[in-house]
Amino acid sequence: MAVPQIPMAMNDTGMSPQPPSQPLYQKEPGMALFTMLCIILLISWRWSVNKLVSRAVSYMLDTVPKKFRAWTYLLDGPGLIQQGFDRSNGAPYEIVAPDVRYVFVSSKEQVMELDRAPDTTLSLQAASKQMLQPIYTMHGFNWFDRRGTEGVGFVRALRVRHSPVYPTIVKLVVMSNAISFFGKELGTNEKFLISALDYVEETLMCAEIVKLLPKKLAPLIARRLTCQKAIYDALIPIATERCEERERAKLGHPVPKHWIMETAPRQKPWTPKRIVHELIAIWFGSVHALSTTITFAIQDLCLHPEYAKPLRDEAERMYAEFEKTGQGLPLLDSFLKESARLTPVESMSMRRAATQPFTFADGTKLAVGDWACTPVRAIMQSAEYYPSPLEFNGFRFARPDNLPSTGAPGQNFNFVQPEPSKLVDVSQAWHVWGMGRMACPGRYYAVAVMKVIMSQIIMNYNCHLVDPDASRWFTWRSTMLPKKDTMVVFTETKH
Ligand code: HEM
Repeated sequence: MAVPQIPMAMNDTGMSPQPPSQPLYQKEPGMALFTMLCIILLISWRWSVNKLVSRAVSYMLDTVPKKFRAWTYLLDGPGLIQQGFDRSNGAPYEIVAPDVRYVFVSSKEQVMELDRAPDTTLSLQAASKQMLQPIYTMHGFNWFDRRGTEGVGFVRALRVRHSPVYPTIVKLVVMSNAISFFGKELGTNEKFLISALDYVEETLMCAEIVKLLPKKLAPLIARRLTCQKAIYDALIPIATERCEERERAKLGHPVPKHWIMETAPRQKPWTPKRIVHELIAIWFGSVHALSTTITFAIQDLCLHPEYAKPLRDEAERMYAEFEKTGQGLPLLDSFLKESARLTPVESMSMRRAATQPFTFADGTKLAVGDWACTPVRAIMQSAEYYPSPLEFNGFRFARPDNLPSTGAPGQNFNFVQPEPSKLVDVSQAWHVWGMGRMACPGRYYAVAVMKVIMSQIIMNYNCHLVDPDASRWFTWRSTMLPKKDTMVVFTETKH
């Protein structure tokens, strides 16, 4: 490498001056470069070691606990949601699960903001998709030979005296829903009923596995989980027939109306396959929520036997009229509502997944993929809305003039809320059905089914829990699920 020349001057002794000591880069340019390189390497090595160490430390102190907390959400969702609610004092708070970040809002203003947010930004559908993973759970269905022996007895379910209450109620709900949704023929087809029953459980399991796996593995597992096409095969001919009716209707032929077709878009009519998917999604939601809610109500009837008599008296007076009109049974309505308040299936409501970034008026931000939601259980057990919030008062929602006039000593049937209300109502204190624009449209039907099944039990059976002290549920994410082995003894009352 050429080094620049420096001119030499003469000194006053006439001697040629000694050349000044040359800098290293002039003497040994290669050596200097090498040294510098070493220094740089040493510094950057130490820097990267430091960085690595600090990254490892922050991973251990920060990321590991966060990841751990995220996984604990799977097992203690309701507990974490409640803690967040208690600490936040009405402000929004976040909970991070392994697969999604939830932002909980509970103030009236923010709940309204959530309801008003456009569907293109905060979407219930996107949240449902993430929850149920329909791509994996609704295209093929998992068949496992279900013993083949337990297939009998949807109708006879309750004649068994010691019954595992949750599986029994699921069967009753499956049968009632199948008749209402698909008609008597399919609703009494045992093979179909068994598949429809299995489907709910398989969907729950499959969706969970898929959500927790790396996305690339999901199709592999889903493929392994899916094989049974009984529901799909049974529903496709019905949906095809409905589509043919739709075409006939266009030509002016009179055809019966079907609610699922009525909700389909007129411009781009659904295909039979799409209709079946729609039916299956509704099927899943309705069977799951209904059967869990009714199971907890029966358990509450066992735990609070003093309510059996007034509820039976009411049913004997009003059930026939209720069957005709769908109206009435206010004490049962209140009892079901109180049970759902204290043992709600869900601790989270108004789920909306952000499909675009969203910012609440107070600055709380949602990134794409985050969810906004409300802490329904915590709200329903808050003293702000419910006096003695953790006490079971089965008739607290009834109107005072509907309360039973007599009661045994110690029975507090007269404890009521400041304002009476109904189970189907939707309000800031009652998010069980969601709120606002998207509040559950199936709630009238759901309450009617609950009242039919509960009234039949109340009128015909006394019931008690075999082990009242045993734990009766477990939680997974924000859901409380009844244990399958909780046994109830049903004893016929008379007749
Ligand atoms: C105990 C039973 C049920 C509970 C607790 C329940 C609860 C809910 C909730 C919380 C929502 C979301 C509302 C929101 O996010 O704002 C919802 C939506 C919905 N529910 Fe239900 N539901 C029940 C039964 C049913 C039944 C039996 C049907 C159908 C027959 C049904 C059909 C629907 C539909 C179609 C939606 C979506 C509404 C929309 O997209 O606008 N539900 N339900």
